[in-house]
Amino acid sequence: MTVTSSNTDPRSAGAQEDSLGSIVRLIYVSIANADLNADDVVHILDNAKRRNEVNGLTGMLLFDEGQFWQVLEGEALFVQRTYERICLDKRHTNITTLSFEENIEPKFKDFSMGHPVDLTMIHEPVLSETLKSAGDSDKDAAKTASDKILRGFQSGGKWRGLLT
Ligand SMILES: Cc1cc2nc3c(=O)[nH]c(=O)nc-3n(C[C@H](O)[C@H](O)[C@H](O)COP(=O)(O)O)c2cc1C
Repeated sequence: MTVTSSNTDPRSAGAQEDSLGSIVRLIYVSIANADLNADDVVHILDNAKRRNEVNGLTGMLLFDEGQFWQVLEGEALFVQRTYERICLDKRHTNITTLSFEENIEPKFKDFSMGHPVDLTMIHEPVLSETLKSAGDSDKDAAKTASDKILRGFQSGGKWRGLLT
């Protein structure tokens, strides 16, 4: 089956749904390049939102102390293609996939790429814990810490209100 670029809303393409696969959620962490600044992150977010809308993807991006944690949700094919592009992106390195779940209910339906406006409200070193564990190749610890971030930002979570 061919997915054409003129198909701007893959979710509405009912006939294609089965062949496009299930709704999946992928979470990864990475290290931003040292020269990346806040303006660059705003630029990444603006472009991500635009492209994700076209691809029917949702999620969130956390950037803290030079580290990224990102959730991508959507149809498997579009998540996979987007993640392949992200992995080739020279603006970050040490990209580590922390989880990949199939047949999920999206947790960030209202966000083509949400991000927290003010991280000072998070009085826990959750992201650095996750990154450190991933860096130490302690995948179990990284996943546990990553789950904690996800719970904090999902609907009803203590940090949900920070997302914009
Ligand atoms: C941390 C980070 C997160 C990104 N998130 C997304 C995203 O959610 N969606 C997306 O389409 N591109 C995202 N990008 C941008 C892609 O890596 C890529 O630059 C963009 O899709 C354009 O790809 P192209 O130049 O091959 O067309 C992200 C990049 C970085 C560094």
